[in-house]
Amino acid sequence: MRTTKVLALCLVLLLAGTFSITAGGQQEAEEAGPITLTVAAGAVGQELVLAKEAATAYMSMNPDVEVIVLETPDLTTDRLGLYLQYFEAQSGVVDIYQIDVIWPGDIAEHLVDLNQYGAASVAADHFPAIIENNTVDGKLVAMPWFTDAGLLYYRADLMEKYGFSEPPATWDDLEMIAEKVQAGERAAGNQDFWGFVWQGNSYEGLTCDALEWVVSMGGGNIVEPDGEITINNPKAAKALDMAAGWVGTISPEGVTGFGEEDARNMFQAGNAMFMRNWPYAYSLGNAPDSAISGKFDVVPLPAGDSGRGAAALGGWQLAASKYSENVEEAVDLLMYMTSYEEQKRRAIVGSYNPTIKGLYSDAEVLEATPFFGSLYDVFVNAAARPSTVTAPNYAEASKIFFSNAHDVLTGKQSGAVAVRNMALDIEDLIK
Ligand code: GLC
Repeated sequence: MRTTKVLALCLVLLLAGTFSITAGGQQEAEEAGPITLTVAAGAVGQELVLAKEAATAYMSMNPDVEVIVLETPDLTTDRLGLYLQYFEAQSGVVDIYQIDVIWPGDIAEHLVDLNQYGAASVAADHFPAIIENNTVDGKLVAMPWFTDAGLLYYRADLMEKYGFSEPPATWDDLEMIAEKVQAGERAAGNQDFWGFVWQGNSYEGLTCDALEWVVSMGGGNIVEPDGEITINNPKAAKALDMAAGWVGTISPEGVTGFGEEDARNMFQAGNAMFMRNWPYAYSLGNAPDSAISGKFDVVPLPAGDSGRGAAALGGWQLAASKYSENVEEAVDLLMYMTSYEEQKRRAIVGSYNPTIKGLYSDAEVLEATPFFGSLYDVFVNAAARPSTVTAPNYAEASKIFFSNAHDVLTGKQSGAVAVRNMALDIEDLIK
């Protein structure tokens, strides 16, 4: 592709008479100019800054390439909407897409098989489950970039202040501690203080939070890997009713409009006792300008009736667009951005979890982000959303799940009605 472009450019230059005769008498074309690669990247937390830094580093090593980093919407669901417009138009505007761990099965047809570009050997360094997730019909459609798991953040200083020695092991513990600390902090003058913040907006983030509640109650994984739709059960209903009970009591009414960054902003400003969020919030919370720097810690999410807590599996990959005019160069950039060195830098600076196993025993990484070591089991045992089994309809299935869950949070329907609706609509969708 690139050769064709350069040849075409030479022809144009020739016709325009811009060839010069060198001292040696040979004709040389004037500089062909850089090729441009555009990366559609996220901007949650430090994502955009880190991606731009990677682009700058890559450009200094590859002066013939210009990398543009395009900022995309924070909410996963909106980001997918944008990407689908590019795919629909078979647009080559974006060469590399940052894609969610739940998307490979839905959008594989628009992506390049990276195995054709020598990715197979590098893939072996990454967590096999993510490589498997990113392999659709034998094609590796994306390289893992960072992985995610839902975690519980808590204010260690306030635990001590209110006489609690252990972070909550169960949702009941969490409710009890949240109520007590919220009442205490308000009585002490902070009317903006809340017990627990999380992701309650009607979008993919709620699918993650609600899946965690449901799994922790023993209510299954919505649709099991064998295709059985299991969401219509009393344990799942109870999980949703439990969360609805938090709204307006230990969580602000506005939590039903919260994404990751809304929760983080409130927690980081010092206005919440507990927060459910992804690992990226750790490094920002400990930044010098954070009100809670050094005052919080992170543990696995609380257990429900199943006796165990659950973390949703998240994470992002880089994929090359089939419609790119510079696929080979795009893959080269993508391999650089997902490399060991880059993942290490992102882990240390931004607490983005590597997908390369070896980085979990890297001393510098563990020093910057100790919980990568202490919570390793949470990361490798996280609960996957049913994206592979429902592909290519996962986005729709998830929408059915999160919009019904949202209606429970806002009091429009009970958990029992919601899980029945979910099951019926998902059945219609995938059968
Ligand atoms: C995080 C996760 C992603 C998930 C999203 C939901 O970005 O990495 O997998 O879909 O949150 O909001």
